Amino acid sequence: MKVLIVGSGGREHALAWKISQSKKVKELYCAPGNEGTKSIAQNVDMREKDIKSLADFAARESIDLTVVGPELPLTLGIVDEFEKLGLKIFGPNKNAAELEGSKVFARQFMERHKIPSARFKVAESQKRAKEILGSDEFSYPLVVKADGLAAGKGVIICDDREKAEAAVNLIMVEKKFGDAGDIVVIEEYLTGKEVSFIVITDGLKVVPLVTTMDHKPVYNGDKGPNTGGMGAISPSPFIDKELFEEIMYAIVFPTVTRMLEEGRRYKGVLYVGLMLTGAGPKVLEYNCRFGDPETQPQVLRMQSDLVDILLSAVEEDLLGKEIKWSSKPSACVVVASGGYPQKYEKGKLIEGLKEVSEMPGITIFHAGTKSQYDEYYTDGGRVLGVCGSEKTLTTTMEKIYKAVSGIHFENMHYRTDIGLIRE
Ligand code: AMP
Ligand code: GLY
Repeated sequence: MKVLIVGSGGREHALAWKISQSKKVKELYCAPGNEGTKSIAQNVDMREKDIKSLADFAARESIDLTVVGPELPLTLGIVDEFEKLGLKIFGPNKNAAELEGSKVFARQFMERHKIPSARFKVAESQKRAKEILGSDEFSYPLVVKADGLAAGKGVIICDDREKAEAAVNLIMVEKKFGDAGDIVVIEEYLTGKEVSFIVITDGLKVVPLVTTMDHKPVYNGDKGPNTGGMGAISPSPFIDKELFEEIMYAIVFPTVTRMLEEGRRYKGVLYVGLMLTGAGPKVLEYNCRFGDPETQPQVLRMQSDLVDILLSAVEEDLLGKEIKWSSKPSACVVVASGGYPQKYEKGKLIEGLKEVSEMPGITIFHAGTKSQYDEYYTDGGRVLGVCGSEKTLTTTMEKIYKAVSGIHFENMHYRTDIGLIRE
């Protein structure tokens, strides 16, 4: 089989690593891929949002399966584009990807089908947003969100009315997030522990992935601004069997079934961001893709052939399929550039990478690197994911942190408390 992976981050390197181990796969391409995917796949110089060029490439090369990493091409309709040409592609089509692409659609969908989530109001103008903020509908803090995709930044938590009006202004008037801010959602602030829950579905049958826990804030102790994720462990210490069942029955199954009933069959990865509130789990957001960095520890534990599962989802044939997992825990520590998650530095020489890559039990996924004359340089906010899987979480973290201490570049930073569980 010929497989194409779309995307360029640590998640896509991890997917390529796992997919390259499938006996079915004879040729693997990544578009555009990264320095890490170069050694296991052929990188193709195409941007992930050029969905027409990607479809033409896949048709020309007779690609048997395309796997999409990031949300942007999915919300732009890459699946529809490929399907028009009769090409197999893993991910939701444009209509189904609205679950991530439009916060208004997602919230109204959950309201229609009584899927537990935050109370909300939609405002299509600044005037309406001000009216809502002026009523006593919500207490503070509340959350103001741009409707569309805003690279994970369109969510503003506001402590008082002044800050909420400023947030509306930023999104709707200054257009900080472009067209994503034509409409805003104003919603209740949920408190509790935040967890994510990730499954693969063919639109009817659901195969859950092993649970994970992301570490979003940039500093130890969950301090500082949110990032895409500074590290992840698997399994999640906060999702026991009972909660797992509750999430499946109250949230995941109804989401998949109601999407089908609404004529938006959802095929691909469904990633549900949840808040474990006093009144049970409630949905914060849906993502229509694998997590980054959650995928990294997940593929380390996956014993089944990922290509089989992805193909079964595309072919609507997941019934009776399951994924076998190693019982050993796994983890990923993200090494980031100076400045990340704000404006960050690039072009710093990375030392020690070759030696650390050869340490037994350590797997390194590249996220933002560039190579030149046999040396690696930083080229992104998140630079590397250093991963491992040992008998216990403690030994896993010891091994990973030993590896991380062998890597160095100017102003490199990482959290030293990944996998340290606090209640
Ligand atoms: P979203 O992109 O909607 O998941 O929002 C990004 C982050 O903002 C989430 O991971 C939460 O930490 C936070 N967040 C979003 N919505 C809410 C909410 N209604 N209550 C509390 N926190 C929220
Ligand atoms: N790590 C968070 C995400 O993938 O959305």
